[in-house]
Amino acid sequence: MKILFLGDIVGKPGRRAVKKFLSEFRDFDFLIANVENSAGGFGITGPVFNELKEMGIDVMTSGNHIWDKKDGAKVLDEYPEFILRPANYPPGVMGKGYTVRKKNNFKIGVINLQGRVFMDPIDDPFRKAEEILDEIRSEADIIIVDFHAEATAEKQALGWFLDGKVTAVIGTHTHVQTADERLLKKGTFYITDAGMCGSVDSVIGTKIEDALYRIRFQIPVRFNVAKGEEEVQGVLIEIDNAGRVVDYKRIKERIESE
Ligand SMILES: [Fe+2]
Ligand SMILES: [Fe+2]
Repeated sequence: MKILFLGDIVGKPGRRAVKKFLSEFRDFDFLIANVENSAGGFGITGPVFNELKEMGIDVMTSGNHIWDKKDGAKVLDEYPEFILRPANYPPGVMGKGYTVRKKNNFKIGVINLQGRVFMDPIDDPFRKAEEILDEIRSEADIIIVDFHAEATAEKQALGWFLDGKVTAVIGTHTHVQTADERLLKKGTFYITDAGMCGSVDSVIGTKIEDALYRIRFQIPVRFNVAKGEEEVQGVLIEIDNAGRVVDYKRIKERIESE
């Protein structure tokens, strides 16, 4: 069983890049992608959700930006099997943070969590992970965690915390792919950040001029999605019938612009 995980898809360039990538690369059985920035760089809309679903994404994960467009909450509410928000938002928040899906005789659990370091102080992701594992451990053969977090240390800490308890802990949110992919001591695959799908000449997907203005002058500015050359970034994990990760590689593919 090969699982392809794609980092945050940013805006139209990100969607276009993923579509083009998937038209040539089919060597996987199950596709997970983080979609928190898929509509204009902020959140998701109904049409964008449908477009991504048609591309064959089995489970979409998200993060802090999923709330940016009002459609986000609606989509989360309507399609809890297909799109997740971080599970450790307080009880009462719409949407779901985990799901178990069947594919090729495997039951694949996907858990979405969000960090609290340099981010909004939502509930404890460590305790939430334990809670969810208690519930799905017996029914899922494979468990993939998308840890949407800013701080490397917090991501590594959750990796070690879940080592041997889940199949993979994959970081998202920074939009910058890290080169630290490995198997931890008890066999869990770990990478601090899977990266981003979107425009390369940008500040994490945003137009350079907009980001510079905001950062230099510290005043609000409308962020536009950057254009130009695109890249698809993520990881591909191969899992044997016993649920062990036997191979993995980072994906970092430049897509020819049109
Ligand atoms: Fe993001
Ligand atoms: Fe994020």
